[in-house]
Amino acid sequence: MIKKIIKKIPGYVNLIQFYNRIKLEKDFKRDKSFFLKHYMYSKPITKEKLQYEILFEIHKLEKGFSVINPRPFGIDKIKKIIFNLTEYKKNNYEIDFEYNLAYSALHEYLKLYEEKKWIDREEYHLVKDFLRDKPSFNKIPVGAFDYYKKDFINDTKIDYDKFISSRRSIRNFSSKKLDEKDIIKAINMSIKTPTACNRQMCKIYYIESEKNKKIIEKYGQGLGLFDLKNANYFVITFDISANYFIGERNQGWFNAGLVTMNFVNALHSLGIGSCCIQFGNSFKEEIDFKKYLNIKESERIAVIITCGYYDNVMRIPYSSRKPIYDVYSKR
Ligand SMILES: Cc1cc2nc3c(=O)[nH]c(=O)nc-3n(C[C@H](O)[C@H](O)[C@H](O)COP(=O)(O)O)c2cc1C
Repeated sequence: MIKKIIKKIPGYVNLIQFYNRIKLEKDFKRDKSFFLKHYMYSKPITKEKLQYEILFEIHKLEKGFSVINPRPFGIDKIKKIIFNLTEYKKNNYEIDFEYNLAYSALHEYLKLYEEKKWIDREEYHLVKDFLRDKPSFNKIPVGAFDYYKKDFINDTKIDYDKFISSRRSIRNFSSKKLDEKDIIKAINMSIKTPTACNRQMCKIYYIESEKNKKIIEKYGQGLGLFDLKNANYFVITFDISANYFIGERNQGWFNAGLVTMNFVNALHSLGIGSCCIQFGNSFKEEIDFKKYLNIKESERIAVIITCGYYDNVMRIPYSSRKPIYDVYSKR
């Protein structure tokens, strides 16, 4: 009743628009402060920032390795990698993938410089001195290699159109429990998603406990018409610590989208149907959501995935696609 009366007040629409604008501006400002607080070069140094910077610098270095006839390269990248490894030691950070990759890269770099007889250069000596104590690490492939068409071209001869056309968003699922082996397979397929400068800033969380499932159901606004009886949930996030300048303020969202699509397709290839659930929540709600699920502060929630094995029959919307020339044009 009161709502009906309020709606009749002259200027009601303008009032609503004004209110929405204030809300919008508030959350955009929070996005901005969040980025400034957590991006790669914000203070203080965290392990995540070091990890992403190592990946970033190694990616740039690998491009130097990929040049067919290289000239000496990468001194600034080498310096940053050495700085980051020194910070690992200073802060007693545990040895991890990035640490091993960084040491592997430095060794490859020395090897290449020796092959090319560039051993009188400053960068060669910087690396040589840094590796003098022979720190232990696990070798990881790094650098560049020749990728032969004959070795992969047969693997592209699949009916991909048929495969992607058979994926549809599914909102009710069979009662079969998700097999951990299938989850691992799907995650391993998603890891192959390309990311900007190979920084791999996305995480996939499997929401296992009943308590946490209830959190998903509380915050997932788009779960309205679902049959949640057999629903399983994943949350896909990205870490702002991976982003290094203003042009990357939306990079995480885009990369999470790519990971999500590969994940959803991977699930589909394993007989698991899914549906993305948009995380259309306010900034404040996102903070609470992360706290409940014990997700790191510097991560942002990209999307929720609900899924389960396909049932024999599922009722789904047509979701017809626009004609091709509404999407595709030439300029
Ligand atoms: C990022 C994203 C968010 C989505 N959020 C929801 C949602 O909250 N609730 C829902 O029922 N469907 C959601 N969907 C599913 C879309 O409605 C669906 O993908 C679209 O209608 C196309 O249908 P199809 O997936 O069957 O091809 C979402 C899809 C995407 C990609």
